[in-house]
Amino acid sequence: MTSLPSKLQEQLSDCRQEHLLKFWDVLSADEQKFFALQLSSIDFELFLRLREQKASASDKLIAPCDVVQLDDAFQSKGVASIQNGELGVLTVAGGQGTRLGWSGPKGTFPATPVTGKSLFQIIAEQIVFASKKYSVVIPWYIMTSNENDEATRSFLLDNNCFGLKRTDIFIFTQNEIPAVDAEGNMLLATKNSVAMNPDGHGGVVSALKQSGGLEEMSIRGIKHLSYVQVDNPLANVIDPDFIGLHLSDKSSQEASSKCVPKITPEERVGVFCNVAGNIEVVEYIDLPADKANQVHADGELLYGAGSIAVHLFAVDFLHRIADDLPWHLAHKKVQHVHAETGDLVSPPEPNAYKFEKFVFDVLPMAKSSLVVATKREDEFAPIKNATGQDSRTTSHQLQQARALRWLCERGVDVEEGAKVEISPLSGMSAKDLDASVLPTSIASDEVVVI
Ligand code: UD1
Repeated sequence: MTSLPSKLQEQLSDCRQEHLLKFWDVLSADEQKFFALQLSSIDFELFLRLREQKASASDKLIAPCDVVQLDDAFQSKGVASIQNGELGVLTVAGGQGTRLGWSGPKGTFPATPVTGKSLFQIIAEQIVFASKKYSVVIPWYIMTSNENDEATRSFLLDNNCFGLKRTDIFIFTQNEIPAVDAEGNMLLATKNSVAMNPDGHGGVVSALKQSGGLEEMSIRGIKHLSYVQVDNPLANVIDPDFIGLHLSDKSSQEASSKCVPKITPEERVGVFCNVAGNIEVVEYIDLPADKANQVHADGELLYGAGSIAVHLFAVDFLHRIADDLPWHLAHKKVQHVHAETGDLVSPPEPNAYKFEKFVFDVLPMAKSSLVVATKREDEFAPIKNATGQDSRTTSHQLQQARALRWLCERGVDVEEGAKVEISPLSGMSAKDLDASVLPTSIASDEVVVI
């Protein structure tokens, strides 16, 4: 039996967390080693600060925010920036597909309606397409979590990175933070490990800095990042119109975001709002019901600028604010080992608080920030749930509908019932399809991949 290094012992005692060592003496030497290693990775100072944090108040002064329409007025600026090698793609993919009933990293989920391409493949192929179109290398930065890092790396390697060079993919892992119970105590996940949770997608900014990602971007000359979540197969990852608008302001934008009309007051999307003069995303749970239900004369929601979690961030800006994101508190069920008996407890009700950062909290820190309205039917078909709204089924329908629209726009006669999938390798707009050989018509019983 070994003893815990004295520094760790002191830290636990300073934070009054000695209860975590309750089972230390019954652990094997290897289990003790593992536990000591995990404890040494915990930022105890941060833990002490956070456990004093109260739930965030939602009594801020909220008003609808200004939105500009996406158009191609500044497309040439966007194209020039891409061609100059200033753009990188940033994907947050730390989540597991638990809500989907998928046992791997969410990015490995088969998402397209005909060929079943994974969420990762859809993004990778958009990068391959744009790199060819603009004759430039577009690096891809992927944030994983401890839980899915290894599986994500293997998946990409096993699939030859879907045509990208491995050296142009930068994979980094987000941090974790202990969950606490109502008394502010850490919980044991097992007898020799603390219950930790990933620090939210907002952890991407500090993780990029700590991993050397921001540095790597500077060396490559990357000035802007196109940020996307892994779960939206219709997200247009490299959009020259959006990038052009982002760059159109005299002072050059630090952060720009895309929004789509929120459909119902209950829809689980964050809403862009003006909060005390700043643009912020107010999460669906935080938008007061009276506001969520308010409508314009034409029936559209007043607070209807729904976030699809697609942003452009200036790299310099991320450097500046990397450590400044606030923390949010979520009351959640956390499975743990009983502090006295050592039995596993699966609480029926929320029993603990998790700390998380949200990426959209960078927006109010930007010197300038733009919210751009885009077509929902072209850019939003998230896959979040196993069934019902935002499931694979609803996403397939939306992906299919967009493919049909694009083909009709290019003059293809598509009969109702035909199954069509457009590969990102063929393009990211109807116009891009002009470079492909298209059929003149598609019969209702045909299955076509373009
Ligand atoms: C999110 C947004 C919501 C937006 C909606 C659009 C939040 C809090 N809400 O909701 O405003 O309207 O998407 O679809 O973000 N992730 C990590 N690490 C983490 C947590 C999440 O990488 O620690 C990644 C996931 O892999 C996923 C993305 O972040 O790609 C979204 O996370 P999720 O928690 O599913 O967000 P939603 O609640 O769906």
